[in-house]
Amino acid sequence: MCGIVGYVGEKQAAPILLEGLSKLEYRGYDSAGIAVFDAGRIHVVKTKGRLAALSDMIDGGASITSQMGIGHTRWATHGEPSDVNSHPHISNSGKFAVVHNGIIENYFKLKEFLENRGYNFVSQTDTEVVAHLVDFYYDGDMLSTVTKVISRLEGSYALGIISCEHPDSFIAVRKDSPLIVGLGENENFIASDIPAILSRTRDVYLLEDNEIVILKKDNVSIYDIHGEPITKEIFHVDWDVSAAEKGGYEHFMFKEMMEQPKVLKDTIHPRIQDGNVVLDDISLTAEDIASFNKISIIGCGSAYHVGCVGKYVIEKLARIPVEVELASEFRYRFPIVDDKTLVIVISQSGETADTLAALRDAKKSGARIMSIVNVVGSSIARESDDVIYTWAGPEIAVATTKAYSTQLSVIYLIALYLADKKELLSAEDKKNYIDAMLALPDCVETVIGQKETIQYLASKFYNVKDVFYIGRGVDYAASMEGSLKLKEISYVHSEAYAAGELKHGTISLIEEGTLVVALCSVDMLFEKMLSNIKEVKARGAVVWALTFEGNTAIEAEADHVLYVPRTVMEFAPSCIVPALQLFGYYVSALRGLDIDKPRNLAKSVTVE
Ligand code: AGP
Repeated sequence: MCGIVGYVGEKQAAPILLEGLSKLEYRGYDSAGIAVFDAGRIHVVKTKGRLAALSDMIDGGASITSQMGIGHTRWATHGEPSDVNSHPHISNSGKFAVVHNGIIENYFKLKEFLENRGYNFVSQTDTEVVAHLVDFYYDGDMLSTVTKVISRLEGSYALGIISCEHPDSFIAVRKDSPLIVGLGENENFIASDIPAILSRTRDVYLLEDNEIVILKKDNVSIYDIHGEPITKEIFHVDWDVSAAEKGGYEHFMFKEMMEQPKVLKDTIHPRIQDGNVVLDDISLTAEDIASFNKISIIGCGSAYHVGCVGKYVIEKLARIPVEVELASEFRYRFPIVDDKTLVIVISQSGETADTLAALRDAKKSGARIMSIVNVVGSSIARESDDVIYTWAGPEIAVATTKAYSTQLSVIYLIALYLADKKELLSAEDKKNYIDAMLALPDCVETVIGQKETIQYLASKFYNVKDVFYIGRGVDYAASMEGSLKLKEISYVHSEAYAAGELKHGTISLIEEGTLVVALCSVDMLFEKMLSNIKEVKARGAVVWALTFEGNTAIEAEADHVLYVPRTVMEFAPSCIVPALQLFGYYVSALRGLDIDKPRNLAKSVTVE
């Protein structure tokens, strides 16, 4: 996720672009840049690092004169943070500059197409293909040029494009990435989000997918994908600025939970092509995979919980033994790791000290290191042999939600990839799993669509003292994440427990009114879960059960039931956990706590 801005008007553009970008840094902050039209040419200034570094380079914008320009603050997806990978990207001719938020899924094929026609690439980004495509298709008219360009693009994009040929206007378009138009007095704007322009105007157009907009200082024209003019209602923004940075939501955590369907789609779809899992990110050969006699998955907190799901899924599909390790434990137990071990390191931040240290220990032992990371170019990413990025965008809330969910999807992709390379999947099974993967964003959309029901349940239980999350198989792994979400943001004690293990001691803690959250998505264990629910009910527990749609037998046993869309058993945590994230969120909200910044915690634990 990145932030883009654009300006055309009668004032100096550079300071306005910088101001807009400063309100979008929550969308990405590993590099920044602007491009302005000045004295007949496009002038680009961009740099790795925070926006302040860019501002210093141009004296807060004072050293650049121009009344039109575009700007960008980056969250790297393709190509790690660097000056050359920063946006804006410019065509070889210097005639066109582009800023982009999103992922061009077919950039590799487009890059080949353009290189074969003499275009030279200087960056590792997907976005650069757009700058050269504009040059390739330019026919004197930016509207017809852009309609041709976007007809070749697959994936998500919000684009701002300026051209030397059109010194008094610039063009923008969006598909699956947000873009708004700010309407001022003799000045107009584009931005990824409302905060960027709120100090300048409260009147905006909220662009829909495939809408193209041409902005002049005194005119804004909007067109559909075929170049036909369209008219739109002006939306008047009455939010305050801080609310706007959260997309109008009260907390970043809520905004990030709501982003899960989109970031799952961004993470999954580019990696499934023609019914196959395609992991261009990694260089494992079939021989490499055959040589592994085990997999060690390492992580902390929620990342560790993803590993716990991964164990079930990889062993079920790829039939490779999997150990899951807390990074802080792995380091000091003299692990048996060698060149026949594939170590999968999971980390949102890519900077967690225990996880990074465990990676280094495993690497010294000769293991092959593959990491699942959200922050491009982070330490863990750089020190891995292979890295598969979750394209979740910046996660601001301390409690992870969208990063956890995209990490799950990547671990499923790895399991399917390994199984396929080992030729363990029938064509039918493979299709079922691939179809289930592609359906996950919609499943999660349905689950978060039940937020009012979950909020109601939270209103009944937000004063509880102890909660037990129980499950079997992947549900047990999912219960760990549900328990952590409640603990870390609502400070309510809870415990995840293997449902079959309760009777071996812990059930003595169940008493009248104890809340038990029972995860019952594993069909072959459903009857056993019904028995476990009966066990705890007999001791006075109140049970909230989560299960797939259609499993109505649960209603005879549980006090409350939440149905989630059916998916394959292995992927059930992707449907169950978002409901538990919302439960923790609403309990915390009802307890009046600081949801985005819970006490005692930090977003990235860079100390041991
Ligand atoms: C999750 O909500 C917590 N914030 C925490 O457990 C986190 O998952 C853990 O610290 C690992 O962080 P990482 O993914 O950045 O390595």
